[in-house]
Amino acid sequence: PRKIILDCDPGHDDAVAMLLAQAHPAIELLAVTTVAGNQSLPKVTHNALGVATLLGVTAPIAAGAEGPLVRSADYAADIHGDSGLDGVVLPAASVALDPRNAVDLIVELVMSHEPGEITLVPTGPLTNIALAIAREPGIVGRVREVVLMGGAAHTGNLTPVAEFNIAFDPEAADAVFSAGWPVVMAGLDVTHQALALPAVAERIAAVGGSKSVFMVDLIAEYGRRYSDVQGFDAPPVHDPVAVAIVIDEELGGGHVDLVRAPIAVETGGRHTTGMTVVDLRPWVAAGSDTPTSVALGLDAAWFWDLVVDAVAASPAP
Ligand code: BDR
Ligand code: CA
Repeated sequence: PRKIILDCDPGHDDAVAMLLAQAHPAIELLAVTTVAGNQSLPKVTHNALGVATLLGVTAPIAAGAEGPLVRSADYAADIHGDSGLDGVVLPAASVALDPRNAVDLIVELVMSHEPGEITLVPTGPLTNIALAIAREPGIVGRVREVVLMGGAAHTGNLTPVAEFNIAFDPEAADAVFSAGWPVVMAGLDVTHQALALPAVAERIAAVGGSKSVFMVDLIAEYGRRYSDVQGFDAPPVHDPVAVAIVIDEELGGGHVDLVRAPIAVETGGRHTTGMTVVDLRPWVAAGSDTPTSVALGLDAAWFWDLVVDAVAASPAP
């Protein structure tokens, strides 16, 4: 299986990413690290511990950055609520928070594994990853790849052109995209194909048990909020798409369309700060040996099979 570190800000869709990373046999979850984003660091860390308890996650869980590198934090309370995970009943955490800082844990794990062994899967703002590069630049040559949820090659969500995770901390995103390691961007272009349609919720409900109830409540609340705030009929469940891309690679591919293309993060725009500028001009992208790729297509039926199987497969608490 592929060894990953899931760096997240749970967050409804981050919780689904945790579910998939924990349950799928092609993934070995080495750690869950938290970062301020959807809500404050204490709130998303509390949520991570509760979700980990529900799912039976045994990997260490460590808290990282309290806010962006240079800007002030602007949380996503409209989508995720005051708790960061409104609308679900979290079990009291029986999992203890790891005493290490997330940034130290990321550096420690990457440096103590063989080069090419660890894949980073960030599904929140990229602050922890940028800090880890700054703390130990040697991680860049040792990480197999970074498969992240964030950005958009076309339309944004926080602004016309910027996606939330990137816009929350553009300087961190710039550091991660320009580091020179392989980066796969699962942005809105692909995650808006991962819509939790009513048939999906019905399949998850049919599984039964505590994880099923939790995921049904989660999707219902998330769907209500996505409908109110962004007018979606069914909510895009962004973050597990990044995990699914790693699974697809590990199993031989075929369910995700990846296009190699240079990607730059705008940090000084008048109207475009936080934009991921993806150079899809065919004559540039085709001849490019850039280490960055963008995901543009997803086999959504395959993706939802993974999620439903994960609900059924995770160990009961
Ligand atoms: C991203 O923003 C967050 O609200 C979600 O958890 C996801 O990571 C989507 O733009
Ligand atoms: Ca997230």
